[in-house]
Amino acid sequence: MVHHTANPDLSGSHAEAELARLYGDILEREAELTDRRINDALLKELVRQFVGAERQLKDLNDLKNRFLGMAAHDLRSPLTSIIGMSRMLTAAELELDDETKSKFLTAIHRASTQMLELINDLLDVAAIESGHFEMTFAEDDLAALLNERIELLAPTAEQKGIELVAEVNPGTTCSFDRERLSQVIDNLISNAVKFSPTGAKVTISSLAASDSAGFAVADQGPGIPEDERDRLFGTFQKLSTQPTAGEKSTGLGLAIVKKIVDAHGGRIVLDSEVGKGTTFTALLPRRGA
Ligand SMILES: Nc1ncnc2c1ncn2[C@@H]1O[C@H](COP(=O)(O)OP(=O)(O)OP(=O)(O)O)[C@@H](O)[C@H]1O
Ligand SMILES: [Mg+2]
Repeated sequence: MVHHTANPDLSGSHAEAELARLYGDILEREAELTDRRINDALLKELVRQFVGAERQLKDLNDLKNRFLGMAAHDLRSPLTSIIGMSRMLTAAELELDDETKSKFLTAIHRASTQMLELINDLLDVAAIESGHFEMTFAEDDLAALLNERIELLAPTAEQKGIELVAEVNPGTTCSFDRERLSQVIDNLISNAVKFSPTGAKVTISSLAASDSAGFAVADQGPGIPEDERDRLFGTFQKLSTQPTAGEKSTGLGLAIVKKIVDAHGGRIVLDSEVGKGTTFTALLPRRGA
């Protein structure tokens, strides 16, 4: 199944363009409007259009407030941990032993990393929505990139007792933005690990055809219920499937993944069965195809 769920336009550029267009329309029709034979129908139409544009701006403002609220909410919990633990570390009366201190420092490091990841995701979403998401394409080795990302993510998966299985054919090349495609690979693999139970396998395969190249990430997790799939690629959309080891879940990853793949002229295909598992496939067009 191919998803084309549009993210809400947070930039306001559409509403602003609509207002500019209306203003231009009025200037053009100024002669008509100031004419003593004022055209009632024209005035009514302009008022109707203005009301529509105002409603659109209000909806956009509500959306921005919702966005801000959710971002603040998700930043608050790691920040509360950092404040609490650093307070204990600096409280002279507590006389903590070295092991406890080291535990607190590790937790502070984890919470700060989580905050930084969330802020980076938020900045990405903002850049995407305002059209300032820059991409640098180059013909590159997709197989090598897949192997690199798998190697980097394997230790985290192992900690959960999840094996990453690489079925990557050497020499799979196509044109992509290396940094952005790394985000796509990382997001899909980390989702597969995050939502799967201990002991499950995650298989990453490279795919190559004459007109496209890509990869698939297949897990043996809970599967994604059909009636929730239309929300999958929206911003801040968390579904009924939940992290199995308390990992962070904000609901931004797949929204960013979809935008990056779209910017490559590619597509994401979802194949999922509840109780069996999920496969996400990312396909990018090959140059000249
Ligand atoms: N492989 C998967 N198996 C089951 N459910 C999944 C899978 N991938 C995504 N989901 C569901 O889709 C939701 C959206 O995924 P997305 O990657 O956008 O957000 P997230 O992983 O919760 O948070 P973030 O990526 O921002 O850290 C998840 O919260 C989860 O409910
Ligand atoms: Mg994710």
